[in-house]
Amino acid sequence: MDRLRLTALLGLTLLVACEAEPPPPPPAPPAPPAPAAPVKSPEEQKAEALLGKAKGLFQPLPTFMEKGGVRATDDQIALGRALYYETRLSKNQELSCNSCHDLATFGVDNKPTSTGHKGQLGGRNSPTSLNAALHIAQFWDGRAADVEAQAKGPVLNPVEMAMKDEASVVAVLKSIPGYEEPFKKAFPDQPDPITYDNMANAIGAFERGLVTPSPFDKFLGGDTKALNAEQLAGLEAFVDTGCIACHSGVGVGGAGYFKLGQAVPYETKDMGRFDLTKVETDKMVFKAPSLRNVTKTAPYFHDGSITTLDQAVTLMAKHQLGKDIDAATAGKIVTFLGALEGTVDAAYVAKPELPPSGPKTPKADKG
Ligand code: HEC
Ligand code: HEC
Repeated sequence: MDRLRLTALLGLTLLVACEAEPPPPPPAPPAPPAPAAPVKSPEEQKAEALLGKAKGLFQPLPTFMEKGGVRATDDQIALGRALYYETRLSKNQELSCNSCHDLATFGVDNKPTSTGHKGQLGGRNSPTSLNAALHIAQFWDGRAADVEAQAKGPVLNPVEMAMKDEASVVAVLKSIPGYEEPFKKAFPDQPDPITYDNMANAIGAFERGLVTPSPFDKFLGGDTKALNAEQLAGLEAFVDTGCIACHSGVGVGGAGYFKLGQAVPYETKDMGRFDLTKVETDKMVFKAPSLRNVTKTAPYFHDGSITTLDQAVTLMAKHQLGKDIDAATAGKIVTFLGALEGTVDAAYVAKPELPPSGPKTPKADKG
């Protein structure tokens, strides 16, 4: 081979070599060991699976229960807080919302039925005011649309606060000089803000902040350790027994109406929603209550006739689901219900100093 041909061949080879695959990279240094995948215990795996299921059935509490997406102002809340504790909104000036929905005891009075004006007993148990703004409607039968509408009821109810009429309530509020400014601030666009409706609007605004976050909310937020093993087993029993048919969502209840005694008749004289709608199928239909803080709100049922939570749970399984559950299962469910017990913000509910009466403020009427 002459030199020229050799060079040409070499060039061609090089050219071919250049177009060929690049040489393999030098062997990479040994990869650092992958971070050890945390070995999940069967318990953790179970808790995660249960969390996944629970997220489809329940939601954690909001920090404030807005009305139609609008947050109440701090001035409205402050006024509502005072009015919630205001005994001069009652005829004998001894009763306030807090008498029957005591914020120091989870928004209830723990009596079967409450004592109103002159010691009269109402026919139904006081539900808690905590988290109530979440409910589909207010009262056991849902006869008030929201907490603002609800707050207009008790003040004029003859067996509760027993005021004569709206005008006399407004007269009381106007006679207390210290309320003029707070009403103006709470309802700044209104020329004459001291009205019966605004009293109720302010109380409702305050109630919309009565949220009680619980370990169950932490759990729903993704912290699988927020519930202990017993509470998790109880959650499972609650779901598997079928309680979620009526007690689910953000309130773990409070979202719909059902017949008490749906599966097996339950004896009660109270006709529930029928009294309101006169529809035959509404007989003995009540709002399924929220089960938040239920460990603290004994006694139970619309008439306060059931003393213990174990009893309430066992009756529910029987009459609502047609299931006879044993004491152990009822106990498990009650343990789970304990995880719905939340924290009441002590500063938010603290009783403010109420403004003193003026010269025209009526005296208590015990008659
Ligand atoms: C004498 C006791 C008494 C007083 C005072 C009283 N309540 Fe009630 N409250 C009850 C009873 C009893 C019920 C249930 C009545 C029913 O469902 O028919 C109730 C129901 C409610 C509910 C509905 C909760 C739910 O889960 O449906 C709210 C909210 C409430 N009251 C707030 C208030 C406010 C605000 C005031 C003050 C303006 C007030 N209550 C004054 C006894 C009282
Ligand atoms: C078909 C609907 C339905 C099912 C299913 C159901 N409940 Fe209820 N629950 C209600 C209704 C309605 C009430 C109100 C009863 C009344 O009138 O007093 C209620 C009341 C309760 C109360 C009393 C709360 C209080 O504040 O007085 C508890 C506790 C309760 N349910 C737990 C459970 C448990 C646990 C299960 C499952 C074993 C369950 N419920 C299944 C509809 C249901």
